[in-house]
Amino acid sequence: MDHFLSIKDCSADQLEELLELGIDLKKLYKSGARDLCLEGKILAMLFEKPSLRTRMSFQTAMIDLGGQAVYVKTEEDAGGIGKREPVKDFARVLTGYVDCIMARTYAHSTVTGLAEWGDVPVINALTDFSHPCQAMADVLTALEVFDKLEGIKFAYIGDGNNVARSLANACAKLGMELVIAAPPEHMLDEESVQQANSIKADSVSQCSDPFKAVEGANVIYTDTWVSMGQESEKQQRIKRFSGYQVNGSLLGKAPKDCRVMHCLPAYRGYEITDEVMESQQSVIFQQAENRLHFQRALIKYLLAR
Ligand code: CP
Ligand code: NVA
Repeated sequence: MDHFLSIKDCSADQLEELLELGIDLKKLYKSGARDLCLEGKILAMLFEKPSLRTRMSFQTAMIDLGGQAVYVKTEEDAGGIGKREPVKDFARVLTGYVDCIMARTYAHSTVTGLAEWGDVPVINALTDFSHPCQAMADVLTALEVFDKLEGIKFAYIGDGNNVARSLANACAKLGMELVIAAPPEHMLDEESVQQANSIKADSVSQCSDPFKAVEGANVIYTDTWVSMGQESEKQQRIKRFSGYQVNGSLLGKAPKDCRVMHCLPAYRGYEITDEVMESQQSVIFQQAENRLHFQRALIKYLLAR
């Protein structure tokens, strides 16, 4: 594995190895020990969009492992990737300075272009298309909570977006099931569903009824109805998603031990209620913390093996 661009490009063995490493490093760091395997290594963190979790967890992970991270707000600091200079130049220049590139971009092709033209590992830190680091932290959380992944059912309620797409691939690769409940206009595209089902038959399905989706679910998952870059569609989206809120009445239709996940940031009162976020069933902040534990494993895996 040279890069981490998409879950579908990784084998199940690689994903399992990353999860195991994440759990081992979590234990190590919780015990107060350190693993300074990235001494002298530098990560470039390129951002076209805002971030709290992804930026902080990658930066902290680099510091934890003895390396350093440089944060670049690409539009403000570098004139935009592909604007002031083309992606292929951007990639080759950074290759001469750093050991790894992590990028959060609008176009997915920007991240794949950096991987194509650069000569160091490139990590997808969210594009309009996918968010693989998030899905792996989610899976790590499920593994901690249920002590297994095989047979776990996720019900994803809301927008069939970048987060849903990566979760679909993670479920297919790791023996889980995903049911997406979304308004017809916002379901995950059929190609992505088929692609996940070609990894494991019948692992991903869609419906428009959230109450049906949560039947027998181990995890109810949701994300914002308005992703970064879709702000102009906000009013229309709020109307379309109005029946897709994760609230007490939806949670009541799921098994009693069902957990709730959200990748954050959350818009309380829209896709999720305050009551559900603060409930005993929410593992949302464990999930957020696990961004760090997965990211630490990922950069060690890419840079220090
Ligand atoms: N979940 C997530 O990626 O959060 P940030 O946008 O804050 O990085
Ligand atoms: N779907 C959201 C995820 C934020 C972490 C977005 O792309 O804005």
